[in-house]
Amino acid sequence: MTDSCVIKPPVFYPGSLAVLISTENADGTTNLAPMSSVWTIGETVMLGLQTAGQSYRNLTDRPDFVLNYPSEDLWPQVERLAPLTGADPVPPHKAEQFRTERDKFTAAGLTPRPADLVTAMRVAECPLQVECRARTVRPAGELGLGVVEAQLLRVHAHPDIVEDDLRHIRVDAWRPLFYVFRHYIQRGPELGRNFRAANTVGAGVTGRQ
Ligand SMILES: Cc1cc2nc3c(=O)[nH]c(=O)nc-3n(C[C@H](O)[C@H](O)[C@H](O)COP(=O)(O)O)c2cc1C
Repeated sequence: MTDSCVIKPPVFYPGSLAVLISTENADGTTNLAPMSSVWTIGETVMLGLQTAGQSYRNLTDRPDFVLNYPSEDLWPQVERLAPLTGADPVPPHKAEQFRTERDKFTAAGLTPRPADLVTAMRVAECPLQVECRARTVRPAGELGLGVVEAQLLRVHAHPDIVEDDLRHIRVDAWRPLFYVFRHYIQRGPELGRNFRAANTVGAGVTGRQ
């Protein structure tokens, strides 16, 4: 197929990973929120967040946060967090569909665990947990949206997705959760490898980055 047509999608989320962001509330508790506008390169992390949300507000005052990457089996917990906000009152544009929740861990059935370098709690069930600190938090060009640039500080991983060298992820064992046009999707089998991935299948190490 090479034909195309012009469309007007109500949302444009062609597919990225679902992430749970932990940020610190003013009272020292941790707010937890699903997000998907996250990318990393080198030790820089970029986030796209609604400025009316509690996560963005927290980051403007307290720059520490954790990105918790859920595996595909955790999609019900992610969706339990979806209609919640830590903001009180609920921002007007969300009033019909959202409610305020201060204890998101209990609401989602997830377990808080202290981080090493930042104040926000990690999510114990998430196989990858990344401690970060915001460098800049600013409104984006579009009204109501903010952009956060942050420093990656420390990566925690469940042992069952890590190679013995404690550096590489076992890609065959890592089952990330994708968010695609508001649907939760799981990964499929490996299709191929980048020329820079070490091809060590058979040597006891697979899926090297
Ligand atoms: C899977 C998923 C991905 C989301 N991605 C984002 C995102 O990238 N940025 C954002 O601002 N909101 C995103 N949202 C919406 C927020 O989770 C929602 O606004 C939530 O109420 C924010 O909580 P908070 O106000 O406590 O920060 C996403 C929601 C879901 C379920």
